[in-house]
Amino acid sequence: MGLGPDALNAGAWNVGKSKGKKKKDDEDEMTGCWMKFRLMGGCMSSRTKVDSSTSGTSTQDAESKCTNDSIKDQPAAPVASSSTTSNTESTLSTPKAAEELKVASQLRKFTFDELKSVTKNFRPVNLLGEGGFGCVFKGWIDENGTAPVKPGTGLAVAVKTLNHDGLQGHKEWLAEVIYLGDLLHPNLVKLYGYCIEDDQRLLVYEFMPRGSLENHLFRRSLPLPWSIRMKIALGAAKGLAFLHEEAERPVIYRDFKTSNILLDADYNAKLSDFGLAKDAPEGDKTHVSTRVMGTYGYAAPEYVMTGHLTSKSDVYSFGVVLLEMLVGRRSMDKNRPNGEVNLVEWARPHLGDRRRFYRLVDPRLEGRFSIKGAQKALQLAARCLSRDPKLDL
Ligand SMILES: Nc1ncnc2c1ncn2[C@@H]1O[C@H](COP(=O)(O)OP(=O)(O)OP(=O)(O)O)[C@@H](O)[C@H]1O
Ligand SMILES: [Mg+2]
Repeated sequence: MGLGPDALNAGAWNVGKSKGKKKKDDEDEMTGCWMKFRLMGGCMSSRTKVDSSTSGTSTQDAESKCTNDSIKDQPAAPVASSSTTSNTESTLSTPKAAEELKVASQLRKFTFDELKSVTKNFRPVNLLGEGGFGCVFKGWIDENGTAPVKPGTGLAVAVKTLNHDGLQGHKEWLAEVIYLGDLLHPNLVKLYGYCIEDDQRLLVYEFMPRGSLENHLFRRSLPLPWSIRMKIALGAAKGLAFLHEEAERPVIYRDFKTSNILLDADYNAKLSDFGLAKDAPEGDKTHVSTRVMGTYGYAAPEYVMTGHLTSKSDVYSFGVVLLEMLVGRRSMDKNRPNGEVNLVEWARPHLGDRRRFYRLVDPRLEGRFSIKGAQKALQLAARCLSRDPKLDL
């Protein structure tokens, strides 16, 4: 903790800046805006997602056609298969698991029985949450191995179970293993290992004691203090900057949102969920062409409209999350009056007005924030959300 508002320095906030040398053209064919989203359930979760598309109790699949400015609230899979050539998607379309997993050889390989025992048979009291992929349970494992240990000893872990969801689920599971298994950074959640056994697919992460930013911002009665919000924004920005600029093979994250920002005991932010990640364009390519996937309210409009993915799409999503943190409102909130449902659209006209910025800042802070810091942070959010495609952040 202890990161003051003045941490909003230009260097630290330099997320997703283009290096100019990373460019890539069409890699996989965009299959239009048809997508399939899952209606999840069955996890005995007490957690209900905001969007009803993910909080049902049915496990059926549903299809939806998105319009140019909309995208479903789930990491979503296209109905038609596309002729992909990008690293992950092409490798993943032929699930020869053993070969694909060579890349993850440094990860621990768990048996299903081990993880059953680690989570006390996936006991509901061990349930940490539920997302589009499946349920997440707390457990304890041996410091250096895969064996279950007594709670409170060894390493605390979060075990994510994949709901049986066909090839798309397997693809996201594998992308997570391949990307996160290879990336090490203090602002990325650590993947300890995985389990692949028949149709079982599980992932084992470091346990993040304070859960997700979404929980803290929108589900708690006590508001997150300003300095902690800034600390989290900075940590998440560093995670993103690492993916875009420092990783050996730059990565576009594609799922930057408050529920994927997890917090350790000291509110250090770590990005989780690499199921939708893609290799960034290389050489003289400007973008990767993909199916449109992501989460409603966070995906960059130009990406939704064209399917052209660049690291700037992540920068847009960062702007949305930063705005959520500053304003204390969800990116999409159907409970708000017309004109206020979409946070970015509602806030945009006020973002350029330096004098009236205080109208935007979360009223639950009751004035306990740095004026300069808030002005700077709102300016930064405005730049990330800019409609001008030529604006080089
Ligand atoms: N490593 C972890 N440590 C502690 N809690 C975790 C961990 N990973 C996930 N969780 C909890 O489980 C919840 C569900 O996570 P998950 O990533 O499956 O879904 P989500 O991010 O909420 O939604 P989506 O599937 O749309 O991305 C999180 O919101 C968080 O509360
Ligand atoms: Mg998640």
